[in-house]
Amino acid sequence: MPIQPSPLRRLLDLIAHHLKAHSEHQTLVQRLGQPLDESQRPAPSALPALVQRHFPQAAANASAADANLHRLVATVAELLTELHWYQRADDGRDPAFAEGHRNAILLGPGGLAAVDGLVLGLTLMAPGVSYPVHRHPPQELYLALCDGQWWREGQPWWAPGIGGLVHNASNRLHSMRAGDQPHLSLWLLFGAGVEAFNARPAGQ
Ligand SMILES: [Fe+2]
Repeated sequence: MPIQPSPLRRLLDLIAHHLKAHSEHQTLVQRLGQPLDESQRPAPSALPALVQRHFPQAAANASAADANLHRLVATVAELLTELHWYQRADDGRDPAFAEGHRNAILLGPGGLAAVDGLVLGLTLMAPGVSYPVHRHPPQELYLALCDGQWWREGQPWWAPGIGGLVHNASNRLHSMRAGDQPHLSLWLLFGAGVEAFNARPAGQ
């Protein structure tokens, strides 16, 4: 019998499948297919109450979009209790954000595995919550798993739609916000600066 791939391997394959239609992201597709180094796997955290409360609705919303996203979100659900969830380091200006979000790394520091040149994370936010405007040296590609809005410097807020991609260039100011539904997104950091990011797990 063939060995069943791990949930993380299946998730990476499903993300790669989603990106395959986008010719500009084929380097990421290749990176997602690399062997996984699972030697630094941290102990999982308790599943945050916020995740317990809002993930089911976020997953239901994303799952309705198409069959690949349905499988992708179901695989994220399998991994929820294995992750080390954290709150982004912030200046405390927005208590609603502090209480209304949790992040987790899947690939990279504090994540389930590592691969060269890539960080993969997950963000969940309660309805109505906005992510702080921020920037970082690595480029970032968000995979929207909700109908929320995204923003970047020089461009008005827009909704990429469930399954939509948002590619932010290096050091471009950017943010996102939930509407009346929870926000769920995966994000990939890559390119120059990603190795330095690996030393700062809560910096995204
Ligand atoms: Fe970012």
